[in-house]
Amino acid sequence: MSLRVRLLGAMAYVLLLTTVAFVVPLALSLSARINDEVSTQARDQARLVAAEAADLLGSARRRELMSLAQTASSSLGGRVLIVNAGGRVLADSAVPPEIGSSYMSRPEIARALTGTPDQFERYSHTLHQAILATAVPIFHGTLTAGAVRITQSVNSVHNAVLRVELGLIIIGIVVLLMGLLVANVLAGQIGRPLQRLQEVARRVAQGELNARAVVEGSSEQRSMAHSFNEMADRLSRLLRAQREFVADASHQLRTPLTGLRLRLEEARALAGEDHPSTQELDQALAEVDRLSETVSELLLLSRAGERRLEGTLVDLGEVVAVARRRWSAEADARGIALTIETDTSPGTVHVAREDVDRALDALIENALHYSPRGTPVALAAGPDWIEVRDRGPGMAADERELVFDRFRRGSAGRSGPPGHGLGLPIARELARAWGGDVTLEPRPGGGTCATITLATLPTLNRDAASLQT
Ligand SMILES: Nc1ncnc2c1ncn2[C@@H]1O[C@H](COP(=O)(O)OP(=O)(O)OP(=O)(O)O)[C@@H](O)[C@H]1O
Ligand SMILES: [Mg+2]
Repeated sequence: MSLRVRLLGAMAYVLLLTTVAFVVPLALSLSARINDEVSTQARDQARLVAAEAADLLGSARRRELMSLAQTASSSLGGRVLIVNAGGRVLADSAVPPEIGSSYMSRPEIARALTGTPDQFERYSHTLHQAILATAVPIFHGTLTAGAVRITQSVNSVHNAVLRVELGLIIIGIVVLLMGLLVANVLAGQIGRPLQRLQEVARRVAQGELNARAVVEGSSEQRSMAHSFNEMADRLSRLLRAQREFVADASHQLRTPLTGLRLRLEEARALAGEDHPSTQELDQALAEVDRLSETVSELLLLSRAGERRLEGTLVDLGEVVAVARRRWSAEADARGIALTIETDTSPGTVHVAREDVDRALDALIENALHYSPRGTPVALAAGPDWIEVRDRGPGMAADERELVFDRFRRGSAGRSGPPGHGLGLPIARELARAWGGDVTLEPRPGGGTCATITLATLPTLNRDAASLQT
């Protein structure tokens, strides 16, 4: 998972927690306040009606009691009922009013008539819904002369609470979305410089030692990019020094080796064919040749990383055809049929012909050296690659990358003809110098498929290439 996604996830989590931590208590406290307010309002109104009704309880003032109940009802949005001390209805805001009916069975009225106000939510079987019932006694002096009851549907209260809660949830979601938008921008700002640094590190690891990180982002990211660039500088200085050392040493060794060979040849000529030391001298000459070859390869390897040759447009089909001709005598001598497979159409790449020939030679030499007599070796060229396919012993998976180390010989090498373990590292260095690589894969049906890939024209040196066309 990328750093950006992780950061976004963490920020979303924090934002969600924060929003929930604010919205839930706010919604709870708001709904409690609404409930409280409705109950208090009902109680106050009931007391007010009870105080006014106390003066109107005489039978002659029924009409005024009725209008009192209706006024209170329209201001509260509920039903207002006034009963006498026996629980019989004196005034009722309902239509039609239930004047004279006994309401003694209602618990809140029974309780108010004992002199204690009462308020609770209960289910009304008459209305078939939950109601908030508020009942207060009407005092005449110290006696309870009746009671006032207000009943309101709690649905409207619940709806009001629901509306408030819904509003809060919508606000919470909007805040969350806006926060996520900001978090996305922030995560991008933090993650992007790191991604670019990672990309540069990958290029350096692949041998592009001139690649450097852009110094950008926060102070920590800038300091990291600085340190990375310092490390890359030091690494390329060290590698250059190492290459120069190997190149100098190989160069210095060449002259004494040539001198040594000349002296050995002279000694061999003086000794003649029958001298007892002739055989020893022949072996010494072969050893000197082998040593000279190693020195030459080391020199080549030390220079392979630098692009010292001019690139030209090279037709890979032609490279393969010429290589086949170059190696046909050696292949015949080893009883191997060297062919060209034409199942793909070869392309044109921008490289130094000498470098691609040298890399291909190393692969063909391996295929011929390590394949048994009588087996075929095929060459093939594609748009930006060349393959050498053999039916030899193949290679163990863990050996396939190790054999690119210098002086490393694999199991086929150790049990086969002598070699230095430098062919593949040289081929890889040469291919990488032109933006490509060399890889080894097991071949379906047995054997090895060695591939040289090269950078295609649009991405590498297009300008240089077009200059030459
Ligand atoms: N086509 C192949 N089939 C099987 N093993 C291979 C093949 N190509 C390379 N190898 C293994 O990889 C090892 C390294 O190859 P590389 O060409 O680098 O060195 P070398 O052939 O041993 O010596 P030289 O420097 O003379 O080429 C070989 O010793 C061999 O074990
Ligand atoms: Mg080899």
